[in-house]
Amino acid sequence: MQVVRTIAEMRQLVASRREKGETIGFVPTLGYLHEGHISLVDKAKRQCGFVVLSIFVNPLQFGPNEDYAKYPRDAKRDLELAAKAGVDAVFMPEVTEMYPDFPQPIKTMVHVSEITDTLCGASRPGHFAGVATVVLKLFNIVRPDQAFFGLKDAQQVAVITAMVKDLNVPVEIVPCPIVRDADGLALSSRNVYLNEQERQQATVLHEALSGLEREIRANGATIGALKQKLAAVIAAKPLAQIDYAVILTYPDLKPLPDATLIADLKPDRELIAALAVKFGGTRLIDNKIFRPSEVHAHV
Ligand code: PAJ
Repeated sequence: MQVVRTIAEMRQLVASRREKGETIGFVPTLGYLHEGHISLVDKAKRQCGFVVLSIFVNPLQFGPNEDYAKYPRDAKRDLELAAKAGVDAVFMPEVTEMYPDFPQPIKTMVHVSEITDTLCGASRPGHFAGVATVVLKLFNIVRPDQAFFGLKDAQQVAVITAMVKDLNVPVEIVPCPIVRDADGLALSSRNVYLNEQERQQATVLHEALSGLEREIRANGATIGALKQKLAAVIAAKPLAQIDYAVILTYPDLKPLPDATLIADLKPDRELIAALAVKFGGTRLIDNKIFRPSEVHAHV
């Protein structure tokens, strides 16, 4: 496995592999790798000849009061995990390689509108501009055929997919399923911040989402009733503070009137139940994407 720290070297390496006729798969990360990241690498390995993983804690996507400085980092362990997973090259630039004028702001940013006004975009102003900007830069450096993103961050998948479509970026975005711990908690690098009690109660995100199906079947429910149910399940845990617990259309992330009966929606209309819940200083997100037809099929 090659470890690459400069843009020039990364470009050269990918170009040489492409010349040999290999397809390039790309998995961008902030590092502190876990099985969720590795599942993206596994999928990339199945579909592409040469797999690049990037590890870069992107300052642009963290707000001033967020955890940029203390975001968990462990390069040595990450490289071991990446090598074990069969990654071909790790791109690990310094901040000044990506942003030569840092901490001066860069002049060109990518702003994806509308779908960034809600969910994490509303709670974390500027976050998705930081994400879209760094991901476009990484795409321009790596020039992948396919790029792999986890649906754990479903809004991020929607934002990157919109950017690629709107700007004609020649890459295929491959969304990948959420990987969970045995008790249902979605894997996240930020889970290490949780103390023992918080970790126990954090399973409530998955409980609330998986309870949804039962609820829809039992009540023939409305959007409003489902949202209330989500909030009620989470509120039962004393350490949980809800940031949002909503149901929107996916991937355009539009609200539906509370009175909407799920049964009245088009059967193949995709919906997302999306949660952000704080435990102490740690903000966790989770979601479930579903179609009314899938739920009706269980009746
Ligand atoms: P990071 O949080 O490190 O996540 C990197 C990729 O791993 C994302 O596509 C994310 O959705 C995926 N991922 C994280 N946890 C997962 C899980 N439990 N199951 C499946 N996939 C999971 O997302 C970012 O980094 C950054 O915003 C980035 C795209 C790298 C831009 O800086």
